[in-house]
Amino acid sequence: MTDKKILVSASILGCDLANIESEIKRLEKAKVDYIHFDVMDGVFVDNISFGLPVLKSAKTKTDMPFDVHLMITDPEKYISEFAKCGADIITFHSEATNDIKKCIELCKKHGCKAGLSIKPNTPASEVFEYLELLDMVLVMTVEPGFGGQGFLSFTLEKIREIRQKADELGLDIDIQVDGGITDKTCGEVKKNGANILVAGTYLFKADDMSKAVKSLK
Ligand code: DX5
Ligand code: ZN
Repeated sequence: MTDKKILVSASILGCDLANIESEIKRLEKAKVDYIHFDVMDGVFVDNISFGLPVLKSAKTKTDMPFDVHLMITDPEKYISEFAKCGADIITFHSEATNDIKKCIELCKKHGCKAGLSIKPNTPASEVFEYLELLDMVLVMTVEPGFGGQGFLSFTLEKIREIRQKADELGLDIDIQVDGGITDKTCGEVKKNGANILVAGTYLFKADDMSKAVKSLK
C-alpha cells in the first residue's frame, strides 16, 4: 500500500481517434489526471499506433499532462522529439534499449519526467539500480501491444517488490500500472503499491466516464 495520491491516466488507444479533440474534452470533464499515449512501432510490439504528429496536434487542444508510453526499439533516438512535441512524462521499456541511463538522462535533459517500464515477464529487479534516477516505474499488467486484454495477476508481486525497494531506499517514486485496469482489478494494484492507473477500454466503454474515474480512485 502507498499513501501517495491515486492518479488516473487515460489511454487514448481506446478512444475515437478521428475525433481526438472531443475525446480529450470528455477526459477533461471526467477529471482524469493525465492523457496516456501508447506509441507502438511494429517492431518492439506487434502493432503500430500513432506518433509525433498526433501528440503535437493534441497538445494544442489541452493543458492536461501528456504521459507518453514508448513501445519502440531504441527509444534514445526519439526521446528528444517526443519531448518537443509535448510529452511531460516519457516512459520507455527496459527491454528496448541497451542504455537505460542515457534514456533517463535524455528525458530529464528535455524537461520531462522519466519512466522505466517492464513487460510482464521481466523481473522487478531489472529496475532496482535505476530507482534513484527515475520519477516513475511502469509495471505492465498485460503484454504490451493491444488494448482490451485481461489483467495478469502474477504481476502484482512485482509491484509489491518495487514499492518495497523504493521504500527501503527512501524514494517517493510513482508506480504506474497499465493493461486490464478496471474497478475490479484496481483494488489489488493499489494495495500492492501502485499509484498511477492507466485505463483505456474501461474508461471509453463506460456509460459515465466520471463515475468510472471515481471508481478507480
Ligand atoms: C498496451 C497499452 C495500454 C493499454 C491500456 O500495450 O500500453 O495502455 O492499451 O488499455 P486497456 O485499459 O484497454 O487494457
Ligand atoms: Zn500504455
